[in-house]
Amino acid sequence: MKGIILAGGKGTRLYPSTISVSKQLLTIYDKPLIYYPLSVLLLAGIKDILVISTPDDTPNYRKLLGDGSRIGIHIEYKVQDKPRGLADAFILGEDFIGNDSVCLVLGDNVFYGQGLSTYLRTAMAQVENGGATVFGYPVANPREFGVVEFDKNNKVISIQEKPAEPKSNYAVLGLYFYDNKVVDMAKKVEPSARGEIEITSINNRYLSEGKLNVILMGRGMAWLDTGSPKRMLKAAEFVQSVQDMQGFYISCIEEIAWRRGFITTEQLKKLGEEMKMTEYGQYIMKLAEDSQ
Ligand code: G1P
Repeated sequence: MKGIILAGGKGTRLYPSTISVSKQLLTIYDKPLIYYPLSVLLLAGIKDILVISTPDDTPNYRKLLGDGSRIGIHIEYKVQDKPRGLADAFILGEDFIGNDSVCLVLGDNVFYGQGLSTYLRTAMAQVENGGATVFGYPVANPREFGVVEFDKNNKVISIQEKPAEPKSNYAVLGLYFYDNKVVDMAKKVEPSARGEIEITSINNRYLSEGKLNVILMGRGMAWLDTGSPKRMLKAAEFVQSVQDMQGFYISCIEEIAWRRGFITTEQLKKLGEEMKMTEYGQYIMKLAEDSQ
């Protein structure tokens, strides 16, 4: 399975902070925002990753993540000249995806919770048999998201994009798993009223074919919104509290790569040493030292 991180967009809801730099490069507490969705792909064991961003920002992502070899993975880049909607990721990513299935994660979505790896494994297994898997998560502000509609037997009957009158409080997360058919489907999607080719149209298409799985995540999972300065700060405070309390870091890509066996303890130690001036670097060094 291939992985795509969509890190484009203008980030206008965070102006002026995002006038000169992509939102997904901003910091959530101690690491760039993109580390959080990247860590989800690593947790899923996905090692072939495409980062899609704007003409201005792509060089910065390349500077940050390189070709991925430092953490034992392979990262490629694709420029999106202007935002055309989330489904554009599959058109831009066509060659990269090849004949594979694909996981798309939005570059500004932060997930955290013990059950995450199990959810990811379930979704991957479902999609390997064909179809698509998305996740529903209860939120207080469903109007801002794709929203799942259920019938009285709790069967999913539609997904609506930013509805004025949401049919439930279950938002669709920015984490999607698809079989290879998604590429052709994306090419056929008509732009919505806001002029974008919506991921929601793709999900409804899978639904109408009886091939959409919707996994509802429970309260043990945290999905942190980063859509405004206040929410960015709240997300940062959440990360700080958990890290301080537990001593385990959230979305430390070097740690996940190491625990997944993508890099050796020696390589991990070197990565930590390069950042030894920060607590983040010291954490990585300690992981390596404690295991030797
Ligand atoms: C997008 C999707 C929406 C989804 C959300 C999750 O919204 O269109 O269905 O619920 O991501 O972050 P956007 O961020 O493009 O407004």
